[in-house]
Amino acid sequence: MTNGTGPQPRPGILDISPYVGGEAKIPGVERPIRLASNESALGPSAKAMAGYRALAGELHRYPEGSAEELREAIGRRHGLDPARIVCGAGSDELITLLLRSYAGPGDEVLYSRHGFLMYPINAQTVGASPVAAPERELTADVDALLERVTERTRLVFVANPNNPTGTYLSAAEMARLHAGLPPSVVLAIDAAYSEFVNRNDYEPGVALVDRAENVVMLRTFSKIYALAALRLGWAYCPPAVADVLNRMRSPFNVNAPALAAGVTAVEDVAAFERARAHNEHWLPWFSERLSALSLSLTPSVANFVLARFPDDPARNADAAFAFLQKHGILTRKMGAYGLPEYLRISIGTGEEMERVAATLGDFMTAR
Ligand SMILES: Cc1ncc(COP(=O)(O)O)c(C=O)c1O
Repeated sequence: MTNGTGPQPRPGILDISPYVGGEAKIPGVERPIRLASNESALGPSAKAMAGYRALAGELHRYPEGSAEELREAIGRRHGLDPARIVCGAGSDELITLLLRSYAGPGDEVLYSRHGFLMYPINAQTVGASPVAAPERELTADVDALLERVTERTRLVFVANPNNPTGTYLSAAEMARLHAGLPPSVVLAIDAAYSEFVNRNDYEPGVALVDRAENVVMLRTFSKIYALAALRLGWAYCPPAVADVLNRMRSPFNVNAPALAAGVTAVEDVAAFERARAHNEHWLPWFSERLSALSLSLTPSVANFVLARFPDDPARNADAAFAFLQKHGILTRKMGAYGLPEYLRISIGTGEEMERVAATLGDFMTAR
């Protein structure tokens, strides 16, 4: 708190509600089941861990600042030009860099009502105004977004699929959004969960980046590659945007163990396919179990579900959260997203999902 005599932060900074991450601990529980942060169910691949360990003797060395080897590995895997890739300390850093680069006081940053919270938070950090467009059935609504574009709009952020709703926009809808934006507005497609999507009409954003000068796609190693602790993400950009981000980032923004693990992770296609297959099995399995308990779910295509609980205080989301926690299971409350009737539950191991489904069954049928 400031009393007017000490250093004063820039206007607006004290209005920011800091991001609160998923809980990781339950007092008295040694190994809680952690389903609050959409982390990987299976953990990193053995090859990625070996890449990380190989760096242990080199911690006195600065990382290679341009992340060249990793950008080349990503380029090979996805058929992309490494010169148009910029790596970051998590995709969070890339969101921050985009905002610092393209928005400032007086500007507007558009996102959908239940979009990822780091968009409005980061907009506020640069003094810009976050503008939330309403959604339709907890899905980004292209018309509502376009209606809110003004001459002050600098960026539009769409997570596709979105966290925390799990819903997505088809490639055609995303292209329609892009077509309606002025060329001066950056469309940031945050594809953090794209690797889990199994829908014919979906595209993570590469096609749009390839044909437009104002589209950026963000990806992360925190989800399917299971490297959340290392903080590693990347952006695929038009050349001019890559140039801007490279000027704005700090020279060693990605640490060396993250770079080493990232290269080995991206090359381990077998581990990637295992993680995908795991989600393809357990997402529908868990969704069906919750539906059978009369909980309504959004049609999630990511590695989590968003479940709506009844209004009855004995059966509502707060009561379910507390019951699950008492049984050693951590999920995510959704009040900060304006969805207090919901819990978000990540897809964990098979054993974990069976435990959660059984515990929720006990909760819903308890007298
Ligand atoms: C939609 C979305 N974007 C970005 C991130 C941040 O990921 P990272 O760990 O790469 O910073 C998350 C993390 O949960 C997310 O859900």
